[in-house]
Parts: sequence; structure tokens; C-alpha cells
Amino acid sequence: MISRIPRLLFENVLVPVADVLTKSVNNFAGHKSDHSYNSNATRAAIISEEEIEFYLNFKSAVLFLCLALCIAGFSVLMYFLYVLVFVPYNRVRRLGSIGYQNHEEGHLSKKDIANLVRRRRKVGDDLPPVFPNGWFRLVDSQQLEPGQVKQVTALGEHFAVFRSKSGKASILDAYCPHMGGNLAVGGIVKNDCLECPFHGWRFDGDGKCVAIPYSEKIPTFAKTKSWPCREVNKAIFVWFHCDGKEPEWEIPDISEISTAKFTYKGRVEHHANTHIQDVPENGSDLAHLSHLHVPNAMSGANLSTQYSSWWNFAEHIFRAQCIGSTDEEPHISLFYLTHYLHVFKRFKLLSLNLNVYQIGPGIVHLHFNSPFGKGVFVQTLTPVEPLHLVLTHNLHASWSIPVWLGRIFLYLEAIQVDRDVMIWNNKTFEPRPKLLKEDSLIAKYRRWYSQFYTENSPRLSLKSEDGNGW
Ligand code: FES
Ligand SMILES: [Fe+2]
Repeated sequence: MISRIPRLLFENVLVPVADVLTKSVNNFAGHKSDHSYNSNATRAAIISEEEIEFYLNFKSAVLFLCLALCIAGFSVLMYFLYVLVFVPYNRVRRLGSIGYQNHEEGHLSKKDIANLVRRRRKVGDDLPPVFPNGWFRLVDSQQLEPGQVKQVTALGEHFAVFRSKSGKASILDAYCPHMGGNLAVGGIVKNDCLECPFHGWRFDGDGKCVAIPYSEKIPTFAKTKSWPCREVNKAIFVWFHCDGKEPEWEIPDISEISTAKFTYKGRVEHHANTHIQDVPENGSDLAHLSHLHVPNAMSGANLSTQYSSWWNFAEHIFRAQCIGSTDEEPHISLFYLTHYLHVFKRFKLLSLNLNVYQIGPGIVHLHFNSPFGKGVFVQTLTPVEPLHLVLTHNLHASWSIPVWLGRIFLYLEAIQVDRDVMIWNNKTFEPRPKLLKEDSLIAKYRRWYSQFYTENSPRLSLKSEDGNGW
């Protein structure tokens, strides 16, 4: 039985549309159509039997086509609604996609311009080390299924990150100690071990070789480097220390995430072309909050035009207060950030209070309290190579913030980060900035951050074979 809605659709939309189309075709074919199609008798008098058959077939085809189009349109609409409501946001901006609008080499691709800017960047002898000591995210938890292995290049190393069938994540050197095969490319996870694709040596998560298919004895030298690994707050982290020291501190577990009080709403990822210190330095750079980030997100991320947008009747206002670190946890620095949207310089909307914890050089937890509910942005920063960083923001929030609202939060955050990336991609690291009294927090921040460098921390070598410094 035809339900009410399809029947209404059929009678009021499809049939009239088919009639109009059929009439048009008949007119075009030269049939008489002098307003006399009001009765079957008249119609029969005008057109022959073949024409009636043609008319009916054509009408059926048009009806079918209209029905198919309606179903397709409805399906597309449903799909978009499904994505909007249920699928967590995932926005990735790769190197070259932001901040290269105004370069004279406009004829080059964005990727080529990005590489050109990297090579031409002014890099002084005073550049701080490029890989500080600390925990760095390699992949998000949901990006690594049980039984899966991934190659990740970061911190000048090649990692094989794998998850055992039972769910435990481990990180090994990607290159096999036997003959250099890559464990992450073609390697197979077998129970709790990773098997090399070259000759089948099998390593457990601690790097110990547990099986060699063509040898009964396993020599003691048959082992590979295993990296300290933690899976916390839905991401997998590696501990990097230039002297190979064991972890000196742990990543705080956010209980709301581990107890599922907060659920995952999505992520944004930015690739930036700058020194790692530039990114967390943003938090202590209060003056830039009151300039770069004031135009509201609808003004876009093009720094040349964002201040002249008509959207600027609403402005972002930020206030920050630095609390600093404690003797017990010197690797954590806390500051408070408040935000609201100032509309027509009169009305305050969308107030947001954030407690921002900078945890070592590569992790920031931004706990917020909004009118819609509580949540946390887990920010991570990983150097893929010197001056090439991956910055991620993953949003976990209470049930009162649905996925579609989380998308909006993430999008607004992403536009603000786009602006920073446009600055970072084109700036140089200034080791001796000309700071005002109002900028004093930046000097304090730099002193705090220096704890993550030690004597052997890797520095950017300016002497390379092609003379480019890369
Ligand atoms: S290179 Fe890995 S088993 Fe030979
Ligand atoms: Fe910023």
C-alpha cells in the first residue's frame, strides 16, 4: 500500500511534471496541442494508436526518471545529514595549503612555493635545537586498528607503530636489524609480534626477536630498538630523548576521556613550516591574541583581507593570565584564557573559559567550559623533520555538545590556527626579539621551554650537499 507521503509526491509532483514534459515533447514533434487534451475522447481523435503507445511509454520513462532523481536527491541529503550529525569532523591542511597566497612565484604550485620558502628561510646560527626532549604523538588511537602497523617518520627517526591483536600499541625502529628491511611496509602483525616482510624475523613489542623461520637458535644480538610508548587520551605517543634516556615524566590522563564521560567529536590537523618553539610560544604571546585573532572566524584566514571583512561587526576578545609551573611538575605550565564574541562592540556572546596546560614541548590540554557543556581540546605537536611540524587538535566533549556542534567548534578553532600557520610558514625564528614590557611573558616562556633541550639536542645542520641546508 502506498503511504501518504510518496502518494502525495506522486500525484502532486511527478505526474504534473511528466505531463508538462510529455506535452512539451508532443508540441516539439508537431502534434496538435490546441488546449484540447482535456478528455480521452478528444485525444483519441487526434493521435493514432502508435502515438498513444509512444506517449504512454514516454510518460512512464519520465515518471521513472523523476522518481530516480528524487530518490537520488533524497539519498544525498540524508547522507549529508548523517555526516553532519554522526561523523566526527576530520580536517587536514597539508604543507603548502596555507599562507603562500602572495608570493611572486605565483606560477608555481603551492607545494613548490612551500619548498622554496623553506629553502630560502633566513635561519641564523642561534636557532634552538629542532627536536626537544619529551613525549610526541605519532598517531591517533583510531588510526591504528588491532593487527595493523604504520610507518611514521618524525624526530629524525623512522618508527614502526603497531597494535597487537590483543590491542596493545608498541613502537619499534622501522628498519630491521637483520638486513634493513622496513618492518612497517609489508610487515605483518602476528599475535603480539611484528614480522619483518624480508626474511620473516619476528619481534615482540620490546624489540626482542622471538622467531627466525630458518634458524632454530635466536642469537642475543637479534633484537631491535623499542621506543617508550604510551597510549593515553586516545593517541599514541613516543618518548624522545636525544641521549636515549628513559621517560622523565608521564602524560596526564584525562579521566573524562578514559571513562567516556567525554566522547570524541573530531579533529583538525595542520602541517606547518616553522621551528617547534614558535607554536607553544603563541600562548605567551598575548599581543598577537589581541590582533591576529580578533577578526571573527567568518572573516576567513587570509591575513591580507581578514581585517577589512564586513563580518567584523563581531570580534573575538581574549584575555589571558599566566599561572606558570610548579616545582613538582616543572614540565607543565598553566594559564587561564577567557574568550567571548563582542558583537557591535556592545553584546558579549559565546563566553568560553579555558584552562590551558602546556605539557612538555609537544602536548597541550585545553579544558573549556562553555554554555553548551564541558570539553577538552587535546593539542599535539610533532616535528616530522626540522622545521616541519604536525599540529593536531582533537576535541572530546560532554554529551550535551553533539557532533555537529563539535564540528563548528573545531572549524572555528581551525580558522584561528590557519592564521597562525600563515604567520609561521613565512616567519623566521628571532632568537633576540625586541620585546616590550607587555611582551615579557614571551621571555619567561622561553626560559621555561629551554628545560626541554639538553647538550646533545639535535640542531639544524646548515651544511648539506646541495647547499640548501636541508
Ligand atoms: S631484513 Fe628483516 S628479516 Fe631480514
Ligand atoms: Fe595564535
